[in-house]
Amino acid sequence: MKLLRWERAMRKLNLVFAFLVFVFLVNCYFYFQQSTNSVSVVFRPLQRPTNTHSPFNLSALPANDYRSLLNLKDFRFVLNNNRCNKSANGGFDDSVFLIIFIHSAPNNFKKRLAIRETWGNESNFVNDKIRVIFTLGIVFDPSVQQSIERENAEYKDIVQGNFVDSYRNLSYKHVMGLKWVTYYCQNTKFVFKTDDDIFVDIFQLMFYLKGWLSEVFPLRNFMSCYVISNPYPKRSVRSKWHVTYEEYPGKYYPEYCSGWGILMSPDVVFRLYAHSREVSYFWVDDVMISGLLAQRIGVRHIDLTSKLAIEDDDVTGWLKKDELSIPPLFGHPDTDTDTIYALWNKSIKYYRTKYERL
Ligand SMILES: *[C@@H]1O[C@H](CO)[C@@H](O)[C@H](O)[C@H]1NC(C)=O
Ligand SMILES: *[C@@H]1O[C@H](CO)[C@@H](O)[C@H](O)[C@H]1NC(C)=O
Ligand SMILES: *[C@@H]1O[C@H](CO)[C@@H](O)[C@H](O)[C@H]1NC(C)=O
Ligand SMILES: *[C@@H]1O[C@H](CO)[C@@H](O)[C@H](O)[C@H]1NC(C)=O
Ligand SMILES: *[C@@H]1O[C@H](CO)[C@@H](O)[C@H](O)[C@H]1NC(C)=O
Repeated sequence: MKLLRWERAMRKLNLVFAFLVFVFLVNCYFYFQQSTNSVSVVFRPLQRPTNTHSPFNLSALPANDYRSLLNLKDFRFVLNNNRCNKSANGGFDDSVFLIIFIHSAPNNFKKRLAIRETWGNESNFVNDKIRVIFTLGIVFDPSVQQSIERENAEYKDIVQGNFVDSYRNLSYKHVMGLKWVTYYCQNTKFVFKTDDDIFVDIFQLMFYLKGWLSEVFPLRNFMSCYVISNPYPKRSVRSKWHVTYEEYPGKYYPEYCSGWGILMSPDVVFRLYAHSREVSYFWVDDVMISGLLAQRIGVRHIDLTSKLAIEDDDVTGWLKKDELSIPPLFGHPDTDTDTIYALWNKSIKYYRTKYERL
């Protein structure tokens, strides 16, 4: 498949898309105006900042910053890659448009491969590049570690921190992603955090980012996701998500992002990271980082809900339809790899048909 065609297609589609987005925004504006939800802030004109310096200021971080992560004092990267550098002689590659960091569990070899072979294939874009890393913690099984190292030797896209990879350590993983962008991908224009069981219509996502957001570039203070409003901790001990009063004493969580798709401008990433030690560790990473920490640095959430395929039916329904229509921007969490391949195949078909019609 000639992937360059997508780039050309995208350029031609830009105007059409800008118009569609405009219509969409107008609709959303009125829709959100009627609701009590604070997300109407999304559609106010975005200001062009007067200061266009890089938002990453490493000298503002404490001296021992690199060697620590939240309350871990001996942090280090076990595996690391300079994905945002120019391949030739170092230096950041300014054509990196979007860095995607994907939470992945050590054993999920097939899930990582499915993403590399579909929406996360960096070759999908040429001029404005995407870069993908998978973030992992450590495992105790040496054979699993060996497989990860072999995988990394082949794809060079694994970033592994020296904390134990476990459910309750996901906040370390999330902040490690922010840390990695801060140190190794300062050149990116946007940052996207997701999980390894998600489908992303990467073309639509890029249209979305380039169509209107880049008009006000460099964009500041931007965080967009599926917003969870009025959330509260689950206290029932029978819930997998049950949280003790010791872990979280409050009655409510602040508004936060569902962690399977968080878009951020780089300054938000830097500020989240720089302030990450100012909130106490909380294992529900979405709440800790996109809720408590986001609140602390004063960032609002822009809701993407209307664009998401949240229900399984949205995904399977779209897959079953005979006629081609625009793919769901995101597949829901826990999408199996077969479905990811199927969604990708049909997306490709959709964009190819659209391209040929234009
Ligand atoms: C970076 O941080 C340092 C230390 O806080 C500060 O002195 C400096 O002015 C900052 N630089 C920029 C460009 O903001
Ligand atoms: C990547 O680019 C950064 C920024 O220019 C530089 O400090 C670093 O040494 C580069 N790394 C490699 C491996 O080229
Ligand atoms: C990504 O796409 C390129 C170009 O089509 C292809 O050569 C490469 O094998 C793909 N990568 C993976 C991991 O499938
Ligand atoms: C989280 O990681 C730390 C550092 O590796 C480790 O000491 C701790 O046991 C881990 N916690 C869990 C619940 O796995
Ligand atoms: C997707 O397309 C590839 C290549 O055309 C094919 O090998 C694969 O079986 C398809 N997968 C699904 C789930 O449709």
